[in-house]
Amino acid sequence: MPTSRPSLPQRPPPRTVSITGVGAYVPQRILSNADLERMVETSNDWITTRTGIRERRLAAENEATSDMAVEAARRAMTNAGVTADQIDLIIVATITPDRLFPSTACIVQDRIGAVRAAAFDLEAACSGFVYTLEVGSQFVASHTYNTVLIIGAEKMSAFVDWTDRNTCVLFGDGAGAAVLQHRPGSHGLLMTCLGSDGGKSELLQVPGGGSACPATIDSVSKKLHFLRMDGKETFKNAVNAMVSAAQEVLGRCGVTVDQLACIIPHQANQRIMSAVADRLGAREDQLYVNVDRYGNTSAASVAIALDEALSQGRIKAGDLVLLVVFGAGLTWGAALIEW
Ligand code: ACO
Repeated sequence: MPTSRPSLPQRPPPRTVSITGVGAYVPQRILSNADLERMVETSNDWITTRTGIRERRLAAENEATSDMAVEAARRAMTNAGVTADQIDLIIVATITPDRLFPSTACIVQDRIGAVRAAAFDLEAACSGFVYTLEVGSQFVASHTYNTVLIIGAEKMSAFVDWTDRNTCVLFGDGAGAAVLQHRPGSHGLLMTCLGSDGGKSELLQVPGGGSACPATIDSVSKKLHFLRMDGKETFKNAVNAMVSAAQEVLGRCGVTVDQLACIIPHQANQRIMSAVADRLGAREDQLYVNVDRYGNTSAASVAIALDEALSQGRIKAGDLVLLVVFGAGLTWGAALIEW
């Protein structure tokens, strides 16, 4: 005879999740196109016409990804009005962690004094912030946690070959963070779509340093620990994936492009952003763009742009905001938010 057991507690129905605070940090040092002209065979004209980038920020030598993440996190917490002891979970999206392990999220947890928080890193390259947004939201929606801190932080300058003009002009350092909570009466995150295609992993990668190719004198001399990229193929895949991810979330929510107050694409390249806007039928003035000042900051890019768009009053309560991203993996995603 099976013994009857007392009824177990039921999980309450899922709840909405809002971004209740955003913060960003970029390092002070500016590397202009003119500076790059003195380092590799390039020109301000080539860089601006091909990418829209005029300058980028570089972390100091003793400034790690976690240092930038901590600063962005503190600003997001202040803006959300939360203290470190309220944070239940920290997720750091990064492809440039302080070390292979432990996670950068654990370093941040200690530095900000989030003594109750669980912490882990998430790796989805430049798509990382939208991935953490969706993953972090699930914990709040399911009532597992009340307050989740998500961070996109990168020190790309540490993995860029500063003698390779094909890549070194494109990237910059920085961090952005957001606090996720249930805010009664607000819809918040309406829909997310995420995707990947590991069959194209070689388009954009750091070949060395992992278990497949551990660091040796030979691997260092072959520069296998620096970022490598097939720019043209990456470009084509980025436009296609970003357009279809955006169309999927909009279609599933019954929202048209003209209803969007602000579109924040991953800030990889002005031409990619313009092509995406064009294919979506969006006006250029719906886009938020800061690639000219920061270059491609990978997982931090959308978070830094979101922080700036908010502080410039480009996004107001009730506005519909679309984030759309693409990165190595390949990975991509889009998120529609009612602010
Ligand atoms: N300065 C001057 N000339 C350059 C430079 C430079 N910095 N870099 C490349 N060139 C040269 C090339 O050597 C080539 O010369 P060649 O014709 O004599 O061989 C010429 O310029 C044309 O190069 P292309 O690669 O055809 O230039 P393209 O128009 O494709 O632009 C770019 C290159 C800007 C890299 C573009 O392909 C691009 O933006 N791709 C997407 C990159 C990207 O967004 N990556 C990040 C994705 S997200 C992530 O996870 C990190």
